[in-house]
Amino acid sequence: MKSKKGKLVTFEGPEGSGKTTQIRYAEKLLKKKGYKVLVLREPGKTPTADAIRKILLHKNEPLSSEVETFLFLAARRDLVEKKILPALKAGKVVLCDRFQDSTWVYQGFAGKLSQKLIETMGDFATDGLTPNLTLLLDVPVSTGLKRAGGTDRMERKPKAFHEKVRKGFLQLAKKNKKRFRVISTTQSIENVQEEIKKVINYAFR
Ligand code: TMP
Repeated sequence: MKSKKGKLVTFEGPEGSGKTTQIRYAEKLLKKKGYKVLVLREPGKTPTADAIRKILLHKNEPLSSEVETFLFLAARRDLVEKKILPALKAGKVVLCDRFQDSTWVYQGFAGKLSQKLIETMGDFATDGLTPNLTLLLDVPVSTGLKRAGGTDRMERKPKAFHEKVRKGFLQLAKKNKKRFRVISTTQSIENVQEEIKKVINYAFR
């Protein structure tokens, strides 16, 4: 096993962008390279964060962006404390399906909360932990929503909301060029994986 300093790599994107499949592929690549890898997803992966996930995604009751923010951030804090920081300390590569950028986009940019406030609250929740690399998997909204199936509370939000989500992610990537890599997932799975491989090989050279 390689004993390098831990790294946090996040995967972001609109609904149905194929994050889950591509994270598994990235995990395989990194393990082949000799890294210890921990795969996580947000919200969830601790008992408390899983309970919060159920409220956020599977309750039919409408929630304001403010309430959503508090819940997502509570889940994130728990995950950072219990899983992410210990893994990074142990030198592992943490691959996380969504992180703070999702709050900025879903509750801030699309949910109309102050983006500055989300950044401040996010820093509080993560102690300012920023990913070393973020892969934005981009997909047009109608394709993504079809793929996702539209079953949870977030997926059922209006199409205009999801259009803002996509726009927000692309804007964030443009503003943070050093950290973000944008990959379109409308191409064949082989081409997407080829791009993921290039990005991972470069970041872990
Ligand atoms: P996913 O497991 O399909 O990515 O579902 C998580 C959902 O929660 C997705 O609709 C995005 C949303 N979400 C937010 O709105 N804000 C957040 O901070 C996070 C982490 C997720």
